[in-house]
Amino acid sequence: MKVTVVGAGHVGATCAQRVVENDIADVYLVDIVEGLAAGKALDLAQAAPLIGHSRRIEGGTEYGPAEGSDVVVITAGVARRPGMSRDDLLATNGKIVTAIVEQLSAVAPDAIIIMVTNPLDVTTHIAMQVSGHPRERVMGMAGALDTARLRSFIAMELGCSPADVQAVVLGGHGDSMVPLAGSATVGGVPVAQLIEPDRLAEIIRRTRDGGAEVVGLLKTGSAFYAPSAGVTDMVASILRDQKRVIPVSVLLRGEYGIQDTFVGVPARLGAGGVEEIIEVELAEDELAALHASAEHVRETVAAWERLSA
Ligand code: APR
Repeated sequence: MKVTVVGAGHVGATCAQRVVENDIADVYLVDIVEGLAAGKALDLAQAAPLIGHSRRIEGGTEYGPAEGSDVVVITAGVARRPGMSRDDLLATNGKIVTAIVEQLSAVAPDAIIIMVTNPLDVTTHIAMQVSGHPRERVMGMAGALDTARLRSFIAMELGCSPADVQAVVLGGHGDSMVPLAGSATVGGVPVAQLIEPDRLAEIIRRTRDGGAEVVGLLKTGSAFYAPSAGVTDMVASILRDQKRVIPVSVLLRGEYGIQDTFVGVPARLGAGGVEEIIEVELAEDELAALHASAEHVRETVAAWERLSA
């Protein structure tokens, strides 16, 4: 099994590390900056005897070695700085993603694409357009991260293990995301029975602003440990055919009453990529929020189409 990770920056390099060190697949790391991917890959390869894994990891600037990849993860692009929204990255990252998917299509035309570059739902849309892949084989990593943020904040509030907290976040990866706090559970117990409504509302706000909170602290970049962990879960579920249910950005064709728009919804991930889109029964306000989120994604796609025309 082979995974190509494009972008050897914070998210990409950490992703590569998690994939090889968790013995999931061999990795080819690629970056436009001469020496960056090769250097990080060499460093990671030299850690292998200490970690005790046998995975191969190589890096470079060329796309040829991506041939035969089962999955490609695209993290290349610019990250947010304080005060920026994810949509502010559109003009730069849209072009970068287009060029990368064109190059990958030439060498790894069948690879499942996992998009990470922001604005996520729009770059995933671009990847599908450029690659011509069926929707099962192009998805964006956002829900895995947003859900992990919600779960971690609930665990912090209750002083319990995050592993026991289950929760779902739907919608686009941005201010319009829709955390479903009402359906969150800890060890099977509804969280709403354990946390006061005003505290729960605060946790939802913090989840929505989770990325910005990290950007505000780091000042020179955005989150990467949790994003790379989200990608790794998705890669493992696909390559090991685990059939895990993880929220991902996927093209909806009527599910949730939404047409032809990438938004985050729970999906079953296996060897075929997105094997099933799971429709959660939503309260009226949650469905309205999901539709508003999809509308925001559509507007950003339209903005991209104007920019690239
Ligand atoms: N081809 C290959 N690599 C590129 C290209 C390109 N055309 N353009 C930029 N890159 C590389 C940069 O050289 C850099 O090493 O992408 C890498 C991005 O790394 P960082 O700046 O560290 O950004 P990171 O924090 O990893 O975030 C990457 O993921 O979460 C999103 O919003 C985030 O869009 C951003 C992306």
